[in-house]
Amino acid sequence: AIERTLSIIKPDAVAKNVIGEIYTRFEKAGLKVVASKMKHLSQKEAEGFYAEHAERPFFGALVEFMTSGPVMVQVLEGENAVLTNRDLMGATNPKEADAGTIRADFAESIDANAVHGSDSTTSAAREVAYFFAATELCPR
Ligand code: CMP
Repeated sequence: AIERTLSIIKPDAVAKNVIGEIYTRFEKAGLKVVASKMKHLSQKEAEGFYAEHAERPFFGALVEFMTSGPVMVQVLEGENAVLTNRDLMGATNPKEADAGTIRADFAESIDANAVHGSDSTTSAAREVAYFFAATELCPR
């Protein structure tokens, strides 16, 4: 089915100047960017986005990292978009990510791991709505 998923290019990858290389991977896999914005997240925005991780030991470091510089936030649309994007990203820990994935190629550590992608269509709906009004999406 055609799905939408929320993708974030994290501060480490923005700083490395590889936004375009990562967008190329989305496009080559058949995913379309139907909304995007660059944003420097506030602490409250990052905490709200990652609320499900609030009790995890890494939460403080995660919020600190995600607010350390601008991120690129986009909605990707396409067949099986949630899983397609997760396959492109590779494992959360870049040391475990398959060769040729975004995290294997651009990420340094489990904290600075280049990209975020929704893990289900349910979280995708919440995450897309967290960053974008319905009128900001441009399906095509
Ligand atoms: P992300 O997909 O953005 O979702 C939560 C983030 O927490 C994850 O990517 C990692 O960058 C970060 N993180 C740090 N430590 C861990 C951990 N032990 N398990 C899962 N995620 C972690």
